[in-house]
Amino acid sequence: MHDVDYELLARQVEQLFATEDNLIAGLANFSALFFHELADINWLGFYLIDNEQLVLGPFQGKLACTRISIGQGVCGTSAAKNMSVRVDDVHQFAGHIACDSASNSELVIPFRRHGQVIGVLDIDSPSFSRFTEIDQDGLEKCLNKLENCLFA
Ligand code: SME
Repeated sequence: MHDVDYELLARQVEQLFATEDNLIAGLANFSALFFHELADINWLGFYLIDNEQLVLGPFQGKLACTRISIGQGVCGTSAAKNMSVRVDDVHQFAGHIACDSASNSELVIPFRRHGQVIGVLDIDSPSFSRFTEIDQDGLEKCLNKLENCLFA
């Protein structure tokens, strides 16, 4: 159990990104902020849709695979279904793409522009079942705040 004040983080996102609407700058700083605020994670970052593929965007963590087909892996599944995907044990997820062998659980949230999926936020943990419904809900709200700042 990790105590994170997502309400506070959501307010920080609103303040930090209110004056910056550059996509790369926003995603880079969002990655840095959450990589350091969340405990027990080994990778956090974005994949952005480019030519019907997810292509690696700003992130924190070890080197990662650069291209994922829509529908493939946890990221591609989230993008294809336009819904968050929370995986307690990535080794049990058919088609999981192992970028960092340390990862055991994963949370992927669609990144949207005016409701349309344009990428995903991917978070990996070395612990099994690291992410709860509370984490999912909190992170969805924080990402939504970022979307509102970037795509007002
Ligand atoms: N595990 C992801 C791939 C991206 S890396 O974890 C950074 C997946 O299955 O889609």
